[in-house]
Formats: sequence, C-alpha cells, structure tokens
Amino acid sequence: MAIQKKVYVTRKILEPALSMLLKECNVVLNNNDRPPTRKEILKNVRGKDGILCMLSDKIDEEVMAAAGPKLKVISSYSTGVDHIDVDEATKRGIYVTFTSNILAEATADLTFALILALARKIIEANEFTKSKLWKVGWMPNLLLGTEVYGMTLGIIGLGRIGTAVARRAKGFNMKIIYNNRSTRNHQIESELKAEYVDINNILEQSDFLSIHTTLNKDSFHLLDESKFKKMKKTAYIINTSRGQIINEPDLIKAIKNNWIAGVGLDVFEKEPLSNSSPLLKMKNVVALPHIGSATYQTRSRMSEVAVQNLLRILNGRDPLFIVNSGVKKKN
Ligand code: GLV
Repeated sequence: MAIQKKVYVTRKILEPALSMLLKECNVVLNNNDRPPTRKEILKNVRGKDGILCMLSDKIDEEVMAAAGPKLKVISSYSTGVDHIDVDEATKRGIYVTFTSNILAEATADLTFALILALARKIIEANEFTKSKLWKVGWMPNLLLGTEVYGMTLGIIGLGRIGTAVARRAKGFNMKIIYNNRSTRNHQIESELKAEYVDINNILEQSDFLSIHTTLNKDSFHLLDESKFKKMKKTAYIINTSRGQIINEPDLIKAIKNNWIAGVGLDVFEKEPLSNSSPLLKMKNVVALPHIGSATYQTRSRMSEVAVQNLLRILNGRDPLFIVNSGVKKKN
C-alpha cells in the first residue's frame, strides 16, 4: 500500500470534501473554531507534503522553512492570496493554488446587498421597526435614501468579481466606469458598455465606488484622505476585497467630516474589527464580518476545489487553479 501523504488543514472545511481528504491523506486538522496560532502553524506544518490554509493564515518563508523540503503544495481556501509569500513558494518549488472564480457570484451578490443597504438605509430601517419606533404609519419623509437605478457605479478592479458586480449593475441600468491597474477589459467594455477612466475620474464621477482589486504593494492604502476629498459628498464606498486597500483612520475622518455619504465594508485593515473602532458607532457605515463568499453553495464548492487542487498536485497532476504557474518549470 502506498504511503499516505501528510497534510495540515488549518480549519474545518465543508463536507463532503473534508472526509475525502481525511480518507486519502494523513491529516492533521485544526478542529478549533478559531484560526491556529502562529506557534501551532509552525509546529503542525513540520514534515508535511501539503498545507490547506485560509486567508487568515500567514504563510511566509518561516512557515515554508518549518515545513521542510517535502512541502509540495499550499492550497488556499480563498481567491485572494496576499497571505502567502508566493515568490518564496515559487523559489522553493512549492505550488500555490487557490479557489479562483468560484466565489465571484456570491461576493458580487454581497456587494450588491451592501449597495442597496446603504442607498435605502435598510439596516437603519430594520432597527427603527424592531426598536418599536414606528408609531405613525406611512410618512412622506421617513428614512429617505437615494436611488440605485441609473446611478454611476465605479469599479476599481474589473476582474472576476468586479465583472460579476458590473453584470448585476447592468440590470439596474447603472452607468459603469472602471479602473484597472494594468490591463483594460475590452470584452466587458463592449458587453456592458463599461468605460475605462483614470483614478481621478472614477473618484469624481462615482455615486457608488466598489473595490475589487487584489491587495499588493501598489493597492495598499490606495484610498486615503487625498482620494476621499475628490469624491462626491453623496457617494458611497463599498469594499468586499481587502481592508488594507483603504486607509481606515482616513476613512473614519472622511465619514466624520461628511466628505462621503457612507461606506459598506465586509473587510477591515485588521480582522476581527476592534470593539473600540469608531466605525461601529457610525450610522452611515454598514459593517459585515468578511462574509463575501459565505453561502452553503460557494463554501462547499470552495472546499471541493481546495481539496482537489491539493490532491491533484500530490498525485502528480495539474491543479484546477494555480497561482504560480512558473513553478512548473522547477518540478
Ligand atoms: C475572500 O476574501 C477570499 O479571498 O476568498
């Protein structure tokens, strides 16, 4: 009988993928309902052939060194891979895989939920009703919001998720403008009549500005005080990508000074969000606990894909989705 490969799984993922992995490999699983500590990661990766990790696990040179020379694959249960030192993995001949476009539709749904919640004060209205403050029936000026239909949506990062958001926006007859760091998306420009604009124009024109770019050294704190000041006072920002793309203290300042109308956040500079964050007390902030991909369907599929990616590499096959395709030359 072939010797089973050794794998470290940093959180319980959804069935049936988890059982399949447990059957095929010798698995050390973090069974706790919390991320592993740094110490636990460094201990548990030792001697492993594969790691299946979450976006909350920092996988850097120290972790790869602690794992040792057998480590062949880091399979991330996420689409963002900013928590992994991909260059270091490539140098070491380690494959990095991810769940790619699997979560684009769920994240786009949540982005739209935030757009609608902000525009129509859904959270405030729900609290008003449930707090028994609704005393006088229909009112001509109660909880007035803003239209979404026909407004201008700015998308920073028209990749898989940004495109899924743009397709939804089309149903709301929104004008779509976008900015990409590198390439323009000509197919989507003609399909959705999306217009490429520079960063200043996207800030100045957007009624809703939605962030979908990946986090890297260029996008870190892309939005700061200088950028907020260029936006319409009536504009809303939505961020379902990574918290570090927005300078959070500057954002708090922007909301306090009414430089923008409000913000819908599913991600924060530091997660979980601190109990002392001023964002928690602000009426025009909708704050969610990083649930962009959190549907049964998407998380099940992510589990399946993360396990498949890992097993395929360990069995000498190509993964479904690879981050560092250059690593193949080293193997
Ligand atoms: C979620 O934020 C992901 O990157 O999968």
